Amino acid sequence: MTQHRGAWKNRWTFMLATAGSAIGLGNIWKLPYMIGVNGGSAFVLVFIACILFVGIPLMMTEIMLGRRAQKNPFNAMQQLANEANASPHWKYLGAMGMVAGVLILGFYSVIGGWVLSYITLAFNGSFDAISASQSSQNFESLLNSPYLLVSWHTVFMVMTMGVVARGVSSGLERANNILIPALFAILLILLGYSMSVGDMQAAYQFMFTPDFSKITPVAVLSALGHAFFSLSLGMGSVMVYGSYLQRNVSIANTTICIALVDTLLGLLVGLAIYSLVFANQLTPNAGPGLIFQTLPIAFGHMPFGHLFATLFFTLVAFAAWTSAISLVEPTIAWVVENTSVKRAHATVHLGLIIWMIGITVSLSFNVWQDVTIVFGLGIFDTLDKLTSTIMLPLGGLLMALFAGYVMQKHHRQDELNLGRSYYTAWKITNNIIAPLAILMVFLYLLGLIG
Ligand code: PFF
Repeated sequence: MTQHRGAWKNRWTFMLATAGSAIGLGNIWKLPYMIGVNGGSAFVLVFIACILFVGIPLMMTEIMLGRRAQKNPFNAMQQLANEANASPHWKYLGAMGMVAGVLILGFYSVIGGWVLSYITLAFNGSFDAISASQSSQNFESLLNSPYLLVSWHTVFMVMTMGVVARGVSSGLERANNILIPALFAILLILLGYSMSVGDMQAAYQFMFTPDFSKITPVAVLSALGHAFFSLSLGMGSVMVYGSYLQRNVSIANTTICIALVDTLLGLLVGLAIYSLVFANQLTPNAGPGLIFQTLPIAFGHMPFGHLFATLFFTLVAFAAWTSAISLVEPTIAWVVENTSVKRAHATVHLGLIIWMIGITVSLSFNVWQDVTIVFGLGIFDTLDKLTSTIMLPLGGLLMALFAGYVMQKHHRQDELNLGRSYYTAWKITNNIIAPLAILMVFLYLLGLIG
């Protein structure tokens, strides 16, 4: 067995890397359109509840499992099961996470490619004084070009795998030091602009006025799945990052900071977008194209819009990049720790597999748009739903059950190192609330399907 393990230099690098994994297209591209597709405030409220009662405790659990074992998710679960005299089959939980990561990156890199292409559009001034219909046309013409989609997806994959090949502590995390605050700063500018020209009141009402009658089972299902997606939970990314973490760092504080920043960022983007949507008589339920159709309108009319648009899409690309890296890290860590295959070789092979998945996803927006896989869903939707609403919550459920009921009590207490009341809060959410919430959603899903 070969062991080449990196380690975070300190708590701050771990936090930035984990925040880098969490903050990505999920916040900026996915959350806003999911809010629109799932009825606005109904979705937002459930999403916030899912972050608080499921996301935060399970993020602590996942980091805790990784740090305890100091291994990739597959070997970590194997070792932890062994330590607890439990079935060795727990290791397949790690394997499921790796598969989920590969499937997610298959579509994530395609959307990452859209962002890259929007950097060039912004840079070339294509948004200047653009109308709502021109903006939609721009987006349509990108989607209708398989050649463009595949090319940008390829660029994004090369960028991602290039960093993965070099290993964990090689500096990209340091870039997060500047990039995350910069992303916030530009968002505030965007928000200020949306406030002055958009319909912020309508946006606020749409997103935050509680109307419990609008909460549907589908909204709950999507909100729970998105809480996992947004915090990068349930597939071992956070576990593998935790495995590089020193013993003296507080897991709880780090987790809460990351979850708050992650959620706030997504909600701010949502507000900025919906205030433009309502001011321009656009439809809130435009789906995955939402930010690509609305934001150019804002940038196209604001002072220095050209510059801000280029900067914004560049920062989004960076955010997507750091998340993409974390999607494959569990698998690469597993290969490196179990075989004699070199990190760079493993990266190239895995990269090729994901690249091919991404090609099918790219084609699903144009030449293969009528191809359906299951329940009438196309290739992109199938991958998205399968991972977000099934694989990630299932992974999270099993991790929660393992940490709460299988692992020895003093091991989890040592690792979490919480005061009495915080430990009780973690225990109630991890052992009871989160598993019940996920189980209920699954039962509903089975009813839906069956
Ligand atoms: N959390 C990332 C985002 O919001 O864009 C996506 C993601 C990264 C999901 C890593 C899952 C994961 F393991």
